[in-house]
Amino acid sequence: MKTELKFALASATAAELLVIFTVDQSVDGTPADIPAVFPLTESQTVHDSIGEILTSGEFRSTANETLLIHQPKSFAAKRVLLVGIGKAADPASTTGPGVVALRKAAGTAARYAKSRGLRALTIALPQTLVEATDAEAARTIAEGVIAADFDPDTYRSDRKDQSLTSLTLLGSERIDQPGTLAGFEEGVILGESQNFARALINEPGNVLTPTVLGERAKAMCDEVGLTCEVYSTAKLEELKMGAFLGVTRGSAEPPALIVAHYEPANPTSEVVLGLVGKAITFDTGGISIKPADGMEKMKYDMAGGAAMLGAIRAIALLKPNVRVLAVICSAENMPSSRAYKPGDVLTAMSGKTIEVINTDAEGRLVLADGLHYAKQLGATHLIDAATLTGAVGVALGVHNAGAFASDEATWAKFEDGLKLSGERFWRLPLHSEYREQIKSHIADLMNTGGRYGGAITAAMFLKEFAGDTPWIHLDIAGLAWLDDAKGWISKGPSGVAVRSIVAWVQQYA
Ligand code: BES
Ligand code: MN
Ligand code: ZN
Repeated sequence: MKTELKFALASATAAELLVIFTVDQSVDGTPADIPAVFPLTESQTVHDSIGEILTSGEFRSTANETLLIHQPKSFAAKRVLLVGIGKAADPASTTGPGVVALRKAAGTAARYAKSRGLRALTIALPQTLVEATDAEAARTIAEGVIAADFDPDTYRSDRKDQSLTSLTLLGSERIDQPGTLAGFEEGVILGESQNFARALINEPGNVLTPTVLGERAKAMCDEVGLTCEVYSTAKLEELKMGAFLGVTRGSAEPPALIVAHYEPANPTSEVVLGLVGKAITFDTGGISIKPADGMEKMKYDMAGGAAMLGAIRAIALLKPNVRVLAVICSAENMPSSRAYKPGDVLTAMSGKTIEVINTDAEGRLVLADGLHYAKQLGATHLIDAATLTGAVGVALGVHNAGAFASDEATWAKFEDGLKLSGERFWRLPLHSEYREQIKSHIADLMNTGGRYGGAITAAMFLKEFAGDTPWIHLDIAGLAWLDDAKGWISKGPSGVAVRSIVAWVQQYA
């Protein structure tokens, strides 16, 4: 998709489809003044043209509501699409909803256009409508449109390429042009990096083996100028990654340990951010095999690793002034005569011993060694992402991912980043009492902690390997795959966490 930011009057710009966002400022069902609803004060004729629709009550500007106007009066565009962004937070204020609503509305516009074969999108940057700077709004629109452009039907032989050919964002000439352009370009990079992760997650397990994931990671790193090494069994043995190796044993597919480094030109501190991802390319559960029903979805058990690859791709292009390294642990979890078994005791790279209770709790095993290795490579702060537990979905449903943090300052930076990414992560506790549940009689730890607080005991397990290094753990099992399409995004891989991780990294730059 070609992307461009122009500073020009929306009404005077020729376009196949011009998108205008409108906000519902009606109080007690009475529509507000047209200027308040549509403050893109270009000319009276524009107001007259759209005003009638807005005052008619037929189009109420509720969130993601759409209305298409052909050959609109006083516009150079062939079509105008009105997209509601919902109610202003406070009816008395002139500001409207925030970046989350705007991202969805932008995505709604893009998917509306795509589904009708309209592939060139022109969008008017809303001004006083949203609680965001022009730069944030520009960034958000780019993110929303690019995420909406993704479709998961890659293997359908009747697939029609409906992807957008261009996105043109129109800003008023009066606004901060360099700032808005920087925001827009950032949004493009973030949207494309999120889609990079989604394309990986979407791949079936027979196509995307750990080896292939390593190749794709390497190709991406070469493209954006990151150094990248991909290791396999021999290196895991050399590093004594006994936990990771245990998981790999059952599969004929060799594992991949992917290590990427981002080195800024002028690092401003000694901070090294370590990004660690779980990338199980298919999780059968191993000897503790999963039920057949729904097992096909376990191809997305590499979504944490994909998120880290998407994040470091964006970082390479955005060039923040902070060192970043990524460690992605990829394997296939299979049952076989060589597979690890319940009761086995594994010795992790850190020297800690682990009694395997359930071979389906494999993610924490590969991450145990990944976290330790990231520290050894010099990480001063750690963040991991993983589709780690079904329990996190039981606890939080599909509207919040789980987050854990061992350090308040590190968490505060992550939380600040969420304001921009708009993603929802809910912090869960790490009190020491939970540690009791993963005590083993034969080894230092067990790899499961029973039915209660399953997401927490999994996090407590990881904490043993993060040690004293400030650390954040993201359990994205409930959000990494969307079972239903929404108006603004397809079903399938969501790419959750990519943008929040980048936003966290940017806090250190
Ligand atoms: N990959 C799964 C977690 C998962 C579940 C991801 C549902 C996405 C959707 C993980 O490896 C797993 O199997 N966890 C077990 C842990 C249990 C054995 C302690 C689980 O959640 O059941
Ligand atoms: Mn599992
Ligand atoms: Zn898993």
